[in-house]
Amino acid sequence: MPNAIEVTDLVKSYGSNRAVDGVSFAVEEGEVVAILGPNGAGKSTTVEILEGHRSRTSGDVRVLGVDPGTAGPGFRDRLGIVLQSAGVDKELTVREVLHFYRVAYSRPREVDELIAMVELEDKADERVSTLSGGQQRRVDLALGLIGDPDLIFLDEPTTGFDPAARRRSWDLVRNLTELGRTVVLTTHSLEEAEQLADRVMVLAAGRIVADGSASQLRADFGKGTRISFGLPAVDEPLSGLLDPLQGTSRGRDRRIEITTDAPTADLAHITAWATSRGLELDGLTVSSTELEDVYLGLVGEEA
Ligand SMILES: Nc1ncnc2c1ncn2[C@@H]1O[C@H](COP(=O)(O)OP(=O)(O)OP(=O)(O)O)[C@@H](O)[C@H]1O
Ligand SMILES: [Mg+2]
Repeated sequence: MPNAIEVTDLVKSYGSNRAVDGVSFAVEEGEVVAILGPNGAGKSTTVEILEGHRSRTSGDVRVLGVDPGTAGPGFRDRLGIVLQSAGVDKELTVREVLHFYRVAYSRPREVDELIAMVELEDKADERVSTLSGGQQRRVDLALGLIGDPDLIFLDEPTTGFDPAARRRSWDLVRNLTELGRTVVLTTHSLEEAEQLADRVMVLAAGRIVADGSASQLRADFGKGTRISFGLPAVDEPLSGLLDPLQGTSRGRDRRIEITTDAPTADLAHITAWATSRGLELDGLTVSSTELEDVYLGLVGEEA
């Protein structure tokens, strides 16, 4: 697959603040990449440079084969952009806003199709200013999809969405990616990143601190597998259960939690120990490290 985006040593300084501090990455055509990171990490700055909305201090950037800093209108025509804060005229109705922006594109979607895509049929003729925050954000999303773009940038697209609307917008993004569109989204929702993205990039203080699939990040930065269970009362010391384990155990109120890099062996020992005594382990679960733990570890280390 050719690359839709290539970034080499990108730097953006605001005075002495290096908001983007030497970032390099590539995004393949058809790939869905989520950029995560704390407030002020440089996500929007990076994305807006790729869109051609901000100048860069140094570094090389190629988006759809051209430099977004100098690209012409043909470039804009192939992009869909949902800015973190869009500046639409809120005195227009939803339908009017979409009509207004359609003229900028060579192959625009129909207004009614867009309204249906973001489920604003019953608000189509209302002024944008009278819509709720999440509904206004759906107008922004519709604007990003108007030109039937090859490459879509979504800067925190579902902030303010109720849980059901968020899930439906994920389906919308999935439909686009099934059509081969490339998507770069920023989000603070690890669930959103995991649901949508092939790849998660974590940015902290202007640098990439992790880049890989969610499961790769768990494997590389996670703290192993967690085994937990409730132990019935037994009249013997627990050393026979706990001492042979390769992982580390913690217990509280007879609830035992083990973190281990040898889950198969440790689980075999635990279940053998319990079955030989005829014990049932209450609520026995085995789970991989939560992506949230990985993320907090990564950005915490940087901070
Ligand atoms: N126009 C500007 N002038 C000066 N500094 C700016 C400007 N825009 C952004 N910055 C600074 O650049 C840094 C990165 O900001 P950016 O908006 O890219 O962060 P972000 O990762 O998108 O954060 P958030 O999660 O809050 O959206 C911050 O320190 C911010 O203060
Ligand atoms: Mg931002």
